[in-house]
Amino acid sequence: MNRKLFSLFFLVFSFNSLIINAQTLWLDETQVSRFESGWGQTKANLSVDGNNLKVGGRLYKRGVGTHATGKVLFKVFGNAVSFNALVGVDDEAGDTASVEFFVLGDTKVLWKSGVLKKGDSARRVNVSLKGIERVGLLVTDAGDGIDYDHADWLEARIEYTGKTPEMARIKAPKPYILTPPAPDRPRINYPRVTGASPGKPFLFRIPVTGKQPLTFSVTNLPQGLTLDNQTGIITGVIEKPGNFTVLVKVTNAVGKDSAAFRINTGPLLALSPPMGWNSWNCWGLSVDQDKVKAAANAMISKGLVNHGWTYINIDDGWEAPARNASGEIMANGKFPDMKDLANFIHQNGLKIGIYSSPGEKTCGGFLGSFGHESQDARTWSDWGIDYLKYDWCSYSDKVKGRSLLELKNPYYIMRDALLKTNRAFVFSLCQYGMGNVWEWGASVGGNCWRTTGDISDNWKSMAGIGFSQLAAAPFTSPGHWNDPDMLVVGKVGWGPGLHQTQLTPDEQYTHISLWSLLSAPLLIGCDMSQLDDFTLNLLTNDEVIAVNQDPRAAPAKRASYDNENEVYVKDMEDGTKVVGFFFTRPDASGPAAEFQWVDEVKPQKITVSWAQLGLEGEYKARDLWRQKDLGVVYEKFVAEVPWHGCMLIRLSPLKK
Ligand code: GAL
Repeated sequence: MNRKLFSLFFLVFSFNSLIINAQTLWLDETQVSRFESGWGQTKANLSVDGNNLKVGGRLYKRGVGTHATGKVLFKVFGNAVSFNALVGVDDEAGDTASVEFFVLGDTKVLWKSGVLKKGDSARRVNVSLKGIERVGLLVTDAGDGIDYDHADWLEARIEYTGKTPEMARIKAPKPYILTPPAPDRPRINYPRVTGASPGKPFLFRIPVTGKQPLTFSVTNLPQGLTLDNQTGIITGVIEKPGNFTVLVKVTNAVGKDSAAFRINTGPLLALSPPMGWNSWNCWGLSVDQDKVKAAANAMISKGLVNHGWTYINIDDGWEAPARNASGEIMANGKFPDMKDLANFIHQNGLKIGIYSSPGEKTCGGFLGSFGHESQDARTWSDWGIDYLKYDWCSYSDKVKGRSLLELKNPYYIMRDALLKTNRAFVFSLCQYGMGNVWEWGASVGGNCWRTTGDISDNWKSMAGIGFSQLAAAPFTSPGHWNDPDMLVVGKVGWGPGLHQTQLTPDEQYTHISLWSLLSAPLLIGCDMSQLDDFTLNLLTNDEVIAVNQDPRAAPAKRASYDNENEVYVKDMEDGTKVVGFFFTRPDASGPAAEFQWVDEVKPQKITVSWAQLGLEGEYKARDLWRQKDLGVVYEKFVAEVPWHGCMLIRLSPLKK
């Protein structure tokens, strides 16, 4: 008994003495610039806007000013005693600001503030961290979007003994290049099919890699078209409907290649998913003519055009505030001459896209096309535009509800207006998937339709969108594509400031593989003039692009699925199957999913059986990212896949 009492006394005594010896790590004395912040940059002893920290009318000398979604993870090595702070919305925030603070320990929520709004006095946090290895500090948008969510951790500190806590931030994993460079000999790439509208200007640049100069020749070119034999650009007008198979031959100093190329002249455009660039994910509303030209120049100088990348699409932010006296829409001062810009783009064998909304205003608050649809379509046609993204946005003001008729109507009106012009427009619907748009997008003339809200450059967003497209997948067909939004690789940022995508290299391989299996439009969303080697390599693997551009447009199917991984399969026109293995296991769920709780997740072996793929017999397997044959396989395939990464395999039946 005495012994027990003594030990208890000793324990209490030693614990207290530990606490007495505890040291303090003030949050504001750490490298706060490494805290993640949904907007702006986290600051020490200042708000995210750079003002004195002020919550509920009270000034605070020290703390950290950040913005939802804001987060930081500390390794505390089981040595921490407690976390103390006051938390709240900074008074500088807009009136609608609301946030929620969380303190997490080893994936568990240890404390949460509940929703805090602007004006609320700061709430006290005092959490024991006994035995915890990692502590996550998180501010969320409380479910209503991050607008104005300026959030402060005031007088925030970790008490600890022994080893000083370290910020566990996610050292950016090194990019690694998988795909070998294209050979010097000519290689005709994809797409190898295109749609043309009878009687309207036709433009197509045959995508070929190989040492320059290349010499092109074609046989069986439809009447009305001519080929530039140096660049491979075909232009002209085909008057009559009909399907043509053209034989393309390309030679250079080291070799030659030939391939059949189809031009189908009729009602359908975009016979394979559109590939190009769009200004939104990098420049947002700060897009201007020079940035667009820079994208077009990079498309050529970095050789992307040789891999099928074609469209240069201007998103929101080009429109002047008012129409001219005759009611025509005009470009604002950032785009001095749209016609000239379109010419410049066409001369390079590229195509140009533009953006508008069926409402009075676009999403960015610029002028929309409501009431001027035919006039705007004519203006764009005069400028030489080839592609229209038509974004619902303020059209909500024009409808009472969301009946199918109301959802379809604005798109019918614009389809008819576009068809009456002198040019062929790819028509891209953007209304975030309302009313299962994939079921009827084709009937209103859509060539593609957004199936979701906007993507952002993190795993949760990209994988959340990418792995939830199966219901829409059967609705793809040549000329009709589900659009899970644009690519978030390279330098993105929604303008004018840019940052490197937050997706890890493995996550980026998943992004491109998944979009390829899904036959999604491929619209690069980064600053093309800053393309690094990794991103360029990621976007120029012709065997992966061939999966995206396959003319059969077969829907991707899920062959197997569990909590940790998914296997997708797509039937190709030539009878082969492409199988994507994805190691998707989330680290944790709920608020804990915002953090990476372990330094390294070991690769996983994912097995798919022939029964799951609907196969029998022997197949040749090829690793598409590495462009490497893997030999003959039967009964099953086992892929070793990095966490959040993938393996993309093409299985070709062995010829008997
Ligand atoms: C959004 C759309 C984005 C972008 C933006 C422009 O509605 O989903 O892709 O176009 O509007 O304001």
